Amino acid sequence: MINSNNALILKNEQVARDIYVIELHIPNITFICRAGQFVNLYTGNNAMLLPRPISICRADKNRGVIKLVYRIAGKGTEIISRMKPDSLIRVMGPLGNGFKLEHGKVALVGGGVGIPPLLELAHALRENDDETDINVFIGYRNNETFLLNEFREICRHVDIATDDGSAGFHGNSVDLFKNGDTTQADFVYACGPLPMLKSLSEYMRNRADRLFLSLEERMGCGTGACMGCAVKVRDGANWVYKRVCRDGPVFTASDLLFDIEGA
Ligand code: FES
Repeated sequence: MINSNNALILKNEQVARDIYVIELHIPNITFICRAGQFVNLYTGNNAMLLPRPISICRADKNRGVIKLVYRIAGKGTEIISRMKPDSLIRVMGPLGNGFKLEHGKVALVGGGVGIPPLLELAHALRENDDETDINVFIGYRNNETFLLNEFREICRHVDIATDDGSAGFHGNSVDLFKNGDTTQADFVYACGPLPMLKSLSEYMRNRADRLFLSLEERMGCGTGACMGCAVKVRDGANWVYKRVCRDGPVFTASDLLFDIEGA
């Protein structure tokens, strides 16, 4: 059964242009969530019944608090951005499958609001095996970066890119990753806009079974009801539709059929 509860908003602050961090006190989600899962946030506006699926950025089990980072991408997230601390917001989750934790040398590649779930992943990888060598390649629009210090606290190597070249490498996170010593990574985890994930899949086509993609961008209702998030996934010699919200959002790149329209 999926949890649906009201959570107390502890903080809801802008950290970059159109980017906000919200912290919610909701212990029953905090205790059971895994890296790569997401929650649905409800605006409380009857004209806007569909929830807003947001990836979990950090889960602090001691405080019973989850942290989410979201971009204002429409009316729903704009309403959420105006919610004040000490008010309540309805939250459903945790939802989705989450990341499988591997060992060895791993690379995390993220762009925009695809960066936040990689922070919880970095903590989970570290807690799972403190020998794991975590290397981070993240891309922002400009020098209004976020979560950078949190990554630097626990990862061996953190590189950034910006679209406008105002900080770090001039380009996107995939170009940044390609520019590094990428052949050394045993496993690669990525989250970000679909073109970024396609580009990374193409680059790693010979190692696609070691590339894990979170397709968080492909969400509609977030509850398995609308099929608006369907992607084509290999099934032996054939393919089947899978729902990003129910069967994902994380898929192994070798299973995804990006080349077919709608995948
Ligand atoms: Fe509606 Fe997945 S978002 S079925």
